[in-house]
Amino acid sequence: MKTALTGIKPTGNLHIGNYFGAIKPALELAEKYDARYFIADYHALNVVKNAAELRGTIRGIAAGWLAAGLDPEKVIFYRQSAVPETFELATMLAAFTPKGLMNRAHAYKAAVQQNAEKGADSDAGVNMGLFTYPVLMAADILLFDADIVPVGRDQVQHIEMAQDIAGAVNFNYKKDLLRIPEPGVLENAAVVPGLDGRKMSKSYGNTIPLFSSVTELRKTIMRIVTNSQEVSEPKDPDSSQIFALYKYFATEDEQAALAARYRAGGMGWGEAKEELFRVVNRELQPIRERYDALIAEPLKLERILKNGAEKARAVAARTIGRLRKAAGID
Ligand code: TRP
Repeated sequence: MKTALTGIKPTGNLHIGNYFGAIKPALELAEKYDARYFIADYHALNVVKNAAELRGTIRGIAAGWLAAGLDPEKVIFYRQSAVPETFELATMLAAFTPKGLMNRAHAYKAAVQQNAEKGADSDAGVNMGLFTYPVLMAADILLFDADIVPVGRDQVQHIEMAQDIAGAVNFNYKKDLLRIPEPGVLENAAVVPGLDGRKMSKSYGNTIPLFSSVTELRKTIMRIVTNSQEVSEPKDPDSSQIFALYKYFATEDEQAALAARYRAGGMGWGEAKEELFRVVNRELQPIRERYDALIAEPLKLERILKNGAEKARAVAARTIGRLRKAAGID
């Protein structure tokens, strides 16, 4: 069985765009691959410097993925920080990574560009964690002999850098020490529309959170932007934000029924939103309950991640051993 590996950056609250666009496709992939999914907590440290905040988002993201259906018996699920071999490999890989390669990384280039626009020094606000981000990410991947790395489009460059770095190591030692990974771009992953019709994204502030209370969820859905059509007017399901979201949660029959009500007229937007809320809540309720239970039991969560880390370290130790031997650091 081939290996799929991906890192999850612990960032703010998960929303239904993440659920359909990243979590679900990644969990589907775990059916066909030997999957290793981890929380990239040291990557997050580049940005989040507040301990309570970082601790909270790490727990939230771990509980979120488990609640959404990640089975820790099937998927090796761990925290990056619990696998110290990652950082040892990152140090080794740094010795094979041309500085020029890092200069070309999108995230770093964007920071430099922003500084230029502000007339600031090109290094302003750039820490070495950001600059060497792709090296640490290459270590995450190469440590586990990953065949495929499911990621969004924005991460493909990082996988290509991991390929280059692994190639440089293999070339130097004239041996296939590191497996060359392929990006598994989630091509048909859903792009869920947000409250305002643009792509649902934290940066647009148009999200429907995965784990809000029922009251909050209802309020959020009521905020979906609609046009000013009267109740009596027939409406077009295909150009409706509410209907676009409905498709993710409703059965075929339910979709056909709601489409018919749209076309018949006599249904206002408020009523359509109520129907959307009903199906969204139907799907999210069990996920929310599992999430709340995990958050309420931090020791259980910790145990799950610790088990995962033990399995991960067994694999990691082999890779590091192989590399140290090849490098003469044994
Ligand atoms: N950089 C990824 C992101 O921002 C997270 C990540 C860290 C990752 N290490 C990884 C993804 C290794 C895939 C493989 O989303």
